[in-house]
Amino acid sequence: MGLKNTTAEYGTLAKALHWLVAIGIIAIIFLGIQQSDMPRGDEKSYIRYIHASIATIVLLLMTVRIVWRFMNETPAHPDGMAAWQKTISSIVHWGLYAAVFVQLTAGAFIAGTGGKGLPIFSFLTIPLPIAEDRESHEWWEGIHEFVWKPLLVLLVIHVLGALYNHFIKKNDVVRRMTVGIK
Ligand code: HEM
Ligand code: HEM
Repeated sequence: MGLKNTTAEYGTLAKALHWLVAIGIIAIIFLGIQQSDMPRGDEKSYIRYIHASIATIVLLLMTVRIVWRFMNETPAHPDGMAAWQKTISSIVHWGLYAAVFVQLTAGAFIAGTGGKGLPIFSFLTIPLPIAEDRESHEWWEGIHEFVWKPLLVLLVIHVLGALYNHFIKKNDVVRRMTVGIK
């Protein structure tokens, strides 16, 4: 198994990036929802800071991932997969990329328009070339509070599709994105 993708399987780098980003995004959604109905205070701010730190790491990983995506081949859909399934699979994959990037962008603008940078825990804060502004801060919050919902819907379809292909169709779709699955 090499670093690069082949027409039959994802390579090690694509697999590593897929699963690191997946774990990160699930944690970010969980923390985002958790802080949303908390009263203002230290605890809420702390959860937002952890949320934003993981999100900044996901932003860096996603940047590498999308560049790597275009430097590589992508495994073709399995032989015998119905045309409607191929179409839905591609729409969901591109929908996920788009939703994740919009959500990350909105998060970065919430930080920037609030006068902050992008934190990576206590190691580093990446400064942003965005002016502090109350009105646009609220606008980006509106986007951020909306886009995670379609993102979650896409994620649920994505996971159901993976399970359907693995357990019902019994093809290689899950095997080629994982290591050691029978
Ligand atoms: C894939 C990336 C991201 C996901 C899935 C995500 C998800 C969420 C969710 C579900 C919420 C709760 C929204 C609600 O109350 O309805 C939230 C709030 C928040 N997120 Fe993110 N987020 C992401 C990236 C970021 C980034 C990059 C930052 C900033 C560096 C950020 C900063 C915030 C802040 C400050 C809030 C609280 C403000 C608000 O409630 O509108 N997020 N996020
Ligand atoms: C937020 C979390 C996730 C995101 C953003 C995401 C995104 C993606 C994207 C964009 C692809 C297409 C890769 C490409 O060809 O460029 C993909 C492939 C894949 N994902 Fe996810 N994914 C997530 C979570 C999961 C989870 C939890 C599973 C577990 C069932 C999963 C299983 C797969 C599989 C099996 C493939 C390979 C599909 C194929 O070979 O056609 N993903 N994922």
